[in-house]
Amino acid sequence: MSDTIFIVGGNGYIGSHTNLLLLDKGYKTVVLDKQQPEFLKTIPNWNWEKADLQNVASLEAAFLKHNPLAVIHLAANIEVAESQTNPQKYYFNNVVGTLNLLKVMHDFGTKNLVFSSTAAVYGMPKTVPIQENDETHPINVYGRTKLVIENTLEDYHHAYGLNAIIFRYFNACGADSQGRSGEQHDPESHLIPILLDVASGKRPEFGIFGDDYNTPDGTCIRDYVHVQDLAHAHVLGLEKLLQKELNFEKINLGTSSGFSVKQILDKAREITGAEIPTTISPRRSGDPDSLIASNQKAKEVLNWTPQNSDLDTIIQSAWKWASKNR
Ligand code: UFG
Repeated sequence: MSDTIFIVGGNGYIGSHTNLLLLDKGYKTVVLDKQQPEFLKTIPNWNWEKADLQNVASLEAAFLKHNPLAVIHLAANIEVAESQTNPQKYYFNNVVGTLNLLKVMHDFGTKNLVFSSTAAVYGMPKTVPIQENDETHPINVYGRTKLVIENTLEDYHHAYGLNAIIFRYFNACGADSQGRSGEQHDPESHLIPILLDVASGKRPEFGIFGDDYNTPDGTCIRDYVHVQDLAHAHVLGLEKLLQKELNFEKINLGTSSGFSVKQILDKAREITGAEIPTTISPRRSGDPDSLIASNQKAKEVLNWTPQNSDLDTIIQSAWKWASKNR
């Protein structure tokens, strides 16, 4: 077994920031991904193997070449609305793709996994902040695909001794403080990049998806966590697995506080100085009123505290990156 860490989906938003932090800390990493965006090509020591979770041979070739010590798996389709209309894509990419990865890990004896899950596994929470042992009743296909894999990992842990840390992300946002990576989805559906696209004139206006939710200002409340704080949690989780201090955990990654869509809009207006023309649009299917994490467990078992997740840092870093790269 080598000392290489695989980052599956490492050219994506959260994966790229996780890889940057691991590289900054001196880890040897290899990204497995279908493609590499231009902006990551110049980063020193960015090792990349072209691999596809649907193509088992491509995974086997990468495992044979590098024999990784651990895998961080962040490759998934993540659009809630698309998952509702095209569940086949989500079940194949998120479930079958991950089963392929787990099989190759099992065949090659790679026992350590950090897995990206989501707050969407909880569905409509009965209480907030949400705790890890609260009920999981996802209300969309995306959340269900992640829950299937969470359960699979528990079975593989008991049967095969797979060690896994499952991170349930709340709303990832912000960009690398050195401007090396940032938020980019295709198509873009996420709140902050869309607001910044309107601020810079790339989109004509911003639509609030419903202002009649059961929240103080009527717009949905979410728990926004800076992507560099998420990256830090991955490094801490990985180290706990490698040091054999943890072997199977489900951990929320959020800040324990929430902001409404209107609050984010106001902060984006303040930081960009742009008017950001806004309309009220119909509700988007599958949006719960309020999602806020309890991050008590992350504090206790990982000693993790968000350091960059105040709204100013989030939107300033996102704006700096978007102004140059979007
Ligand atoms: N929103 C708008 N207008 C837009 C875009 C978003 O009003 O143009 C609102 C949404 O309705 C939501 C909030 O802004 O209330 C945040 O929306 P995002 O699309 O940025 O994020 P979500 O909360 O929908 O989704 C995030 C992750 C998903 C994950 C989910 C878990 O991106 O992958 O959290 O709850 F499933």
